[in-house]
Amino acid sequence: MRTFSRSSMAATLLLLSLAGAAGAASAEIKIGADRRIRITDDWRFFKGEAPGAEQAAFSDAAWRALDLPHDWAIEGPFDRKISPHDGGLPFFGVAWYRKHFTVPASAKGKYFSVQFDGAMSNSTVWINGQKVGGRPYGYESFALDLTPHLKFGEENVLAVRLAPEDQSSRWYPGAGIYRNVWLNVTGAVRVAQWGTYITTPSVSDAMATVVIRTEVENKGAAEERVTLETAILDAAGKQAGRVANDVTIPAGGKQSVEAKIEVANPHRWDLDTPYLYSVASTIRSGASHSDRYVTPFGIRTIEYSREKGFLLNGRARRFNGVCMHHDLGALGAAINRRALERQLEIMKRMGVNAIRTSHNPPAPELLELTDRMGLLVMDEAFDMWAIPKVRNGLSKYWKEWYETDLREFIHRDRNHPSVVMWSIGNEVPEQGRPDGGRLAQKLTDIVHSEDRTRPTTAAFNQDTAAIRNELASAVDVPGFNYKPTRYAQILQDHPNWMVYGSETASAVSSRGVYHLPIEKYQKHPSLQLTSYDVIAPPWANIPDVEFDAQEKSPSLLGEFVWTGFDYLGEPTPYFNGPGKNDADWPARSSYFGIVDLAGFPKDRFYLYQSHWTTQPMVHLLPHWNWAGMEGKPIPVMCYTNAEEVELFLNGKSLGRKKRFSEPVELPVGANVSADKKFRSKYRLMWQVPYAPGALQAVAYQGGKSVVTTEIKTAGAPARVVLEPDRTAIAADGDDLSFVTVRVEDKDGNICPMADNLVKFALDGPGKIAGVDNGNAATVEPFQADYRKAFNGLALVIVRGERGNAGRVKITASGDGLRAAEATVTTK
Ligand code: GAL
Repeated sequence: MRTFSRSSMAATLLLLSLAGAAGAASAEIKIGADRRIRITDDWRFFKGEAPGAEQAAFSDAAWRALDLPHDWAIEGPFDRKISPHDGGLPFFGVAWYRKHFTVPASAKGKYFSVQFDGAMSNSTVWINGQKVGGRPYGYESFALDLTPHLKFGEENVLAVRLAPEDQSSRWYPGAGIYRNVWLNVTGAVRVAQWGTYITTPSVSDAMATVVIRTEVENKGAAEERVTLETAILDAAGKQAGRVANDVTIPAGGKQSVEAKIEVANPHRWDLDTPYLYSVASTIRSGASHSDRYVTPFGIRTIEYSREKGFLLNGRARRFNGVCMHHDLGALGAAINRRALERQLEIMKRMGVNAIRTSHNPPAPELLELTDRMGLLVMDEAFDMWAIPKVRNGLSKYWKEWYETDLREFIHRDRNHPSVVMWSIGNEVPEQGRPDGGRLAQKLTDIVHSEDRTRPTTAAFNQDTAAIRNELASAVDVPGFNYKPTRYAQILQDHPNWMVYGSETASAVSSRGVYHLPIEKYQKHPSLQLTSYDVIAPPWANIPDVEFDAQEKSPSLLGEFVWTGFDYLGEPTPYFNGPGKNDADWPARSSYFGIVDLAGFPKDRFYLYQSHWTTQPMVHLLPHWNWAGMEGKPIPVMCYTNAEEVELFLNGKSLGRKKRFSEPVELPVGANVSADKKFRSKYRLMWQVPYAPGALQAVAYQGGKSVVTTEIKTAGAPARVVLEPDRTAIAADGDDLSFVTVRVEDKDGNICPMADNLVKFALDGPGKIAGVDNGNAATVEPFQADYRKAFNGLALVIVRGERGNAGRVKITASGDGLRAAEATVTTK
């Protein structure tokens, strides 16, 4: 997505002609103290087959220059011939990436591997024309040895061919080298890839025992005697303990070394105090470092019990969780730490304490963030096993790869304190097979052989079959998808099981859309869905039903809602399953999100917030622009965590209502109740005869007003307002400012139905990384300098230029609207 500036392109071409080389400029890799060197800048990209492109001498001079991470599919264009289930974006077909680099002659004798955090998908990798490996599974991280084919003091060419297939995913997978790429540089003796395993078998306030197992490998041709020094550093970098072991490793051999370190008065990793230690593993041979490998970790205890639930450091914590797909909306699948951090910040504000990485290994950045932000993680490996859900799914590669994929996934992630469960699969069709339990057991055994400190789980949607076929009993903690009406029975039948909602709700709505009367319809001609929070597909539920079931079965561990954010693809109900059904085009992204694709909360956000948080809040819906409905009753819903709310229209009280005291009757599906009605105590509702003006809610706690909210009837759109989430960002080519674009009337009220076209202009060292508005049924491009508002809001994402600090002025204008300006400083 990021492109060379014109001057660097010119420099490249100049270099090329001078050297007569076969491709892009070859930057020298700077080898410093770090084992890991990020190599994401200045790649060459070509979409299509390129015979001979694996050869170093191949000319890629005409290929596009870009920086990674890169997702070619998000660039579009949308195409109704591509399944909307996959986002209607061009994610399949062959593409090539090449990277030219020089390794200094002085590095001869060092050992090099290349590490891909993920490449989507079916990758093959060559160095200097020699094939070194690849990986079918696009979400899996993998590392490949380059040393035997590397040239020192000369140019090297790394070539990557990707070949993602149509019908290989049930959602938008993205496409390309969409995660980070690293070179690992070490001496002959080094810590193996993901070669540390840190556990804390005993933890008390006075002392924690930390056990560090380190796989040390000797890549060289001679036996080596080395010292492995293992040090624990606290968050300030101060040493908290140290052990040294001398080891002799034969040429080409490997050895596992165990060190035990006691840490006095340990700081616990916990949700409110996510304290991180790290282990620095240094391998010395003689006076020189052969490797230095740093592993962040946390000291905490976890425990699962039928009686007490999930305990973190001895304290019961229910999972107030959300399922998240990996895409970052307008940025596609291209990993961006800030975009991910923003998603998690928004989720935390709602009261979320747990994330499910549905349905695949996440980017490493996700776990770095959850460790740092204090969120629990259900880390999921697979959406399918041997039986495919889509024609070209992972099942095609299952037999050959599943064990390697699963083991390496655990090696990579098992030191993260935030990870508290390993999910071996989601809704696998093997649930329906008598031998399904055997495979589930095999996967659990693999996980246990790599990590005994966390339970295995899986998400079952066919509860009866999964129980009968012994898949449910083959995992430590069975999860059930969309079964609030079955929990009580399952718990009663299985007195020792610990059970939770691995996927819940799946309610659907469009931000800011309200259809009257309130009814549960399947589809709406607008391709939108009402935000009165009453629509859910036949297998699914509104949030209230799950709240109720969880309350009635206190031994449940909690829930993971489908989904925290909207995601690309799967535009249910405007779609009937995988395939090429485009009858409801341009619906192309999900409606499941509690937050829309642009990151703007829907009303449901406040329903969850009212249930999961205690800081007083009150929220009203719908908007208050109902011209033509004067005097007619408008249902007004209120979500609050306070005891009581009083509603006012234009200053006149419409009465107080006590929370939980007057259930609101909501339409539900036959999967919930025979009469298709559900009486929800989680909402308050008034029927308010419409008159324009101000609707105000005052929330009371202990008789005292604690928080208020107000919605006003807006006049005609008059101006644009820009609100950057951060006005200072790093000038590193990665960091982002998310700028909310509001369409307001002349008095500053948001215009709740405004769909004005807004144009953006940037001045200074920044670029537009993407635009959006949260509308799931539009094929406007995500990479553009314009966007229509959707119900009053749009988003423009600004990225600072790498190495070019300054002030970025953003101007937003639209016909008949007063323009807005905002400044983001890049440092
Ligand atoms: C589940 C599935 C999810 C998503 C969801 C939509 O069955 O596991 O991936 O498809 O349904 O409700």
